[in-house]
Amino acid sequence: MPHSLKQLIENSIPNIGMITSIEKGESEMVEDNDLKNLPGVGPATANKLKSAGFTTAEAIAVTPPKEIAEKTGIGFNTVLSIVTVAREKLGVDFITAEDLWKKRQNMQRCSIGSNKLNALMGGGIETQAMTELIGEYGVGKTQICLSLCVRVQLPIEEGGLDGKAVYIDTEGTFIPERVFQIAESLGLDPHETLGNIFLARAYNSSHQELLTDHLLKFCPENNIKLVVVDSMIGHFRGEYIGREHLAERQQKLNNQLHKLLRLTEAYNISVVITNQVQANPTAFFGDPNRPAGGNVMAHASTHRVYLRKGGKGTRIATVIDSPNLPEEKARYKITEKGIEDAEE
Ligand SMILES: Nc1ncnc2c1ncn2[C@@H]1O[C@H](COP(=O)(O)OP(=O)(O)OP(=O)(O)O)[C@@H](O)[C@H]1O
Ligand SMILES: [Mg+2]
Repeated sequence: MPHSLKQLIENSIPNIGMITSIEKGESEMVEDNDLKNLPGVGPATANKLKSAGFTTAEAIAVTPPKEIAEKTGIGFNTVLSIVTVAREKLGVDFITAEDLWKKRQNMQRCSIGSNKLNALMGGGIETQAMTELIGEYGVGKTQICLSLCVRVQLPIEEGGLDGKAVYIDTEGTFIPERVFQIAESLGLDPHETLGNIFLARAYNSSHQELLTDHLLKFCPENNIKLVVVDSMIGHFRGEYIGREHLAERQQKLNNQLHKLLRLTEAYNISVVITNQVQANPTAFFGDPNRPAGGNVMAHASTHRVYLRKGGKGTRIATVIDSPNLPEEKARYKITEKGIEDAEE
């Protein structure tokens, strides 16, 4: 299995030792015959596509042809015709607004734990969307992500998505003991819960990109319904310092964000990313912080949730930029169970 997530990481960074249950995931891989069904795709081409990680018609339909050509070594014109066939097969060119409405009926929502936060988000964290959690250190971004990794595994009728989670950890802040505690306090088997979370530690922004690329293959094979990237921007901020590198940083960040967005659409999953705040020297009044990542981050995220500390250990969440959610507030607290409502 040359392109397993585990091996990819082992090849790039030795000694990772932090992937849980990859073996279990691999044994559950679905038999894939999508590509062979695409007209004009012979066995040799199908193999090239698969070894580059494009294992489904969905993955091919949503990836820029130039990127597929570069990664597979297949000629650009051939790629164009394969992409066209894949798009036709999936009906992703022109659709009616009615079709879009139907597609959005498949959208699901994962409970965060706090009813108030769920209500703020229109019922929970949406699939087919990328939700960005923004806030200063210690505000609870990671805690919300850990809680979601547990709750996504619950059945639909209990507010979950009946699926598994991928956690791309760029800061080394994933704490399995905390997941154990949340699972146990919700009455779940903590070992089974941990076994359904696939963890990858990204050591730099290009490693983060490698892992992101692999998700197009990994998610459908392992019934992944939630992908967390915590934090999305940490490595970029650390690696591209100074104005002269800003354009390159933003271009690379944009590229990764769009890969994640395509993933949400291709497989009806939720992507949750975290973002830090940076001081805004031009703010004369109000909150002196603003989200990092500039316009690129602002435009890519479907929903942006700003988190700040409230009184008595509570936290306050506000939706700051969303196509369909009102800009309201919800007060929550971090507890043994994960995230719960807090009194006003
Ligand atoms: N079991 C728990 N019960 C209650 N509160 C907890 C528990 N575990 C962690 N916390 C609280 O969670 C907060 C830390 O939150 P978290 O690590 O999610 O912050 P963050 O927003 O991810 O910060 P950073 O930007 O540094 O990554 C701390 O205030 C801590 O007290
Ligand atoms: Mg954190």
